[in-house]
Amino acid sequence: MTRFQSGVVAEANTDAQFITLNMVRSADAVAHLRKVLAEIPATEAQFRQQYPDADFHITVAIGSEYWDQLSPAQRPAELAAFPVFNHGDIKAVHTPVDLLLHIRSERHDLNYQASVMLTSRLGDDATLVEEMHGFRYFEMRDMTGFVDGTENPQGDDRIQVAVVGDEDPNFAGGSYIHLQRYEHDLDAWNKISVKQQEDIFGRTKEDNIEYDGADKAAFAHTKRTSLKDAEGNSIEILRHSMPYGDLTRRGLMFIAYGCSAAPFTKMLESMIMGDEAGHHDHLLDYTQALTGQAFFAPSVAWLEKLA
Ligand code: HEM
Repeated sequence: MTRFQSGVVAEANTDAQFITLNMVRSADAVAHLRKVLAEIPATEAQFRQQYPDADFHITVAIGSEYWDQLSPAQRPAELAAFPVFNHGDIKAVHTPVDLLLHIRSERHDLNYQASVMLTSRLGDDATLVEEMHGFRYFEMRDMTGFVDGTENPQGDDRIQVAVVGDEDPNFAGGSYIHLQRYEHDLDAWNKISVKQQEDIFGRTKEDNIEYDGADKAAFAHTKRTSLKDAEGNSIEILRHSMPYGDLTRRGLMFIAYGCSAAPFTKMLESMIMGDEAGHHDHLLDYTQALTGQAFFAPSVAWLEKLA
C-alpha cells in the first residue's frame, strides 16, 4: 500500500497542535509551498529519529477550497467543502482554510518546536488562522468528563477506515479530514445531573460503560453516530480529537480521518438533523461548533513528488 502519513492512523498521543493557515494566492507562493510540503516527511523522520520515545507525527493536509491552486490537474474524488447542516439553533458552520498542520506526540516542547519550524518555513506566504493546543485530560476524557475515543477502530481496521485505497489510484494512501472546533457551555452542562449527562452520551461517566442498545435514547450521542449502511455494515471514522481549554474557553478539537468523506458527513447529518422523528443529538445543546473545515492529507509519495 502507498505509504500514508504516519499520523493518519497512529494511536492517541498526550499532546497536539492544530494549526490552520491561509496561503497567499500567487504562483510564487504555490511554488514555495510545494517545496515546504515535500520536505515534511523528512522533517518528521528527523524528529522521530532524534526523539524515538516521543511518538512524534506531523500530518499536513490541504483544504478543499485551496486544493486546485496546488494541484489543478488532479483532485481527490471526494474532496468537497465542509458539509453544512442547520436545524433550529443547531448549526454546522463552514469556515474554509487552506492548510492544516496536525502535529502530535507525547511532548508539548517537540510539538511547539515543529510548529515554529514549519510555520517559519512557510514565511510570509502563510497567515495563521488559528493555533489550538490539545492535551490529554485525565483518562482521555473530554472536558464534559466523559472518556472520548473508546469505540475508535483498532489495529489494522484503523487503516481500512482512514486510508484511501485503490478505488482512487492517484490518491491512494491519502485521508479525508474533517476538523471542527467545538466550544462547550460547561456551566449549563454541569447544572444537569450525571444521569442526564450519561443519557446524552449513552455511556456511564466514571466507568465509561456503554448502555445496552435498548436503553439508549434516540438523542444519545452514541446512538446518533453509530450508523449502518444498507448492507448492515458499520459506517466508521477514525477520531483523533483532543480537548483544549484555558480559564475562559474550553471544548474539543474534533478531528475525523476517513478513507471517504461520506461517513463523517452522514454522522454529522444524523447528529444535527436527527432521526425520522427529529431527535437531534442532545450533546449539541451544550456545545457549539465554531469552525468546520474539510481537508485531504495526501500520501507521503504524493508530498515528496511536489519537490
Ligand atoms: C463517541 C464525545 C463530536 C462521532 C463519543 C464518545 C464521546 C464523544 C465521549 C463516547 C466514547 C467513544 O466511543 O469515543 C464527543 C464530543 C463531541 C463529539 C465531546 C463534540 C463536542 C462528534 C462528531 C462526530 C462524532 C462531530 C461525527 C460527526 C462519534 C462516533 C462515536 C463517538 C462515531 C462512537 C460511537 C459508537 O460507536 O459508540 N464521542 N463527540 N463525535 N463520537 Fe463523538
